Amino acid sequence: MDRPAWFLDEVAHAGDEHLDPAYVATYNDKAHVDPTEDLALLRTQGLNERSILVDLGAGSGTFALAAAALCRRVVAVDVSPAMLTTLRAQAAARGLGNIEGVQGGFLTYAHQGDPADVVYSRHALHHLPDFWKAIALVRVSSILRPGGVLRLRDLVYACEPCDIERVIEPWLAAGAARPEDGWTRQELETHVREEYSPFSWALEAMLEHAGFQIQQAEYDASRIYAAYTCVKG
Ligand SMILES: C[S@@+](CC[C@H](N)C(=O)[O-])C[C@H]1O[C@@H](n2cnc3c(N)ncnc32)[C@H](O)[C@@H]1O
Repeated sequence: MDRPAWFLDEVAHAGDEHLDPAYVATYNDKAHVDPTEDLALLRTQGLNERSILVDLGAGSGTFALAAAALCRRVVAVDVSPAMLTTLRAQAAARGLGNIEGVQGGFLTYAHQGDPADVVYSRHALHHLPDFWKAIALVRVSSILRPGGVLRLRDLVYACEPCDIERVIEPWLAAGAARPEDGWTRQELETHVREEYSPFSWALEAMLEHAGFQIQQAEYDASRIYAAYTCVKG
């Protein structure tokens, strides 16, 4: 589809490492994603064997693959072909026939079929500058049925701008010693400098502007990681 010259190139903003098969091969060991808590929460929100779930920025698919065991249909969307290759291989290895890997992004994914009951996204929206996040969240809302749930996790600064050094410095100091174990100080510095984690109050305004009611906003002790449970009004 032709897009205007001013349209954001999502692949160019995806983070070079996410496009690199060598990095993707190490991603699961680095990220240690545990889907248990979010799946349990979504079950309390009505996720069941009839549900359609779309995971935006699904990466190598740890969450989407676990969700597929509980849902009718899971669509795992990512801009990175390397991430999708890993995800599809895992789906095949587990014999899961109800999960599709779709190459696309927040701004380009075109949902087909019945509207989603749940949209999930973890640590992906921060790849978009705020102008585009606002547009992405309206698109997310359009994927969901009325009353559908968005569970959004991301790196979000839950503080005031004047407190940012006090929040960021301890987080950087707690970075992993080795990149294979987690994100090092240097990698976290790159995140702050080059990626688009928002302030919580800005993201929450965007969620509400997109028509979501924020049912629950959770900020971890570092004030860097936030999780939202939102309902489409
Ligand atoms: C840090 S990884 C998180 C992956 C997965 N959600 C997880 O929790 O492990 C970020 C993912 O977002 C994807 N991504 C980056 N920009 C995106 C966009 N505009 N739309 C969809 N996915 C995007 C990257 O390719 C990458 O797989």
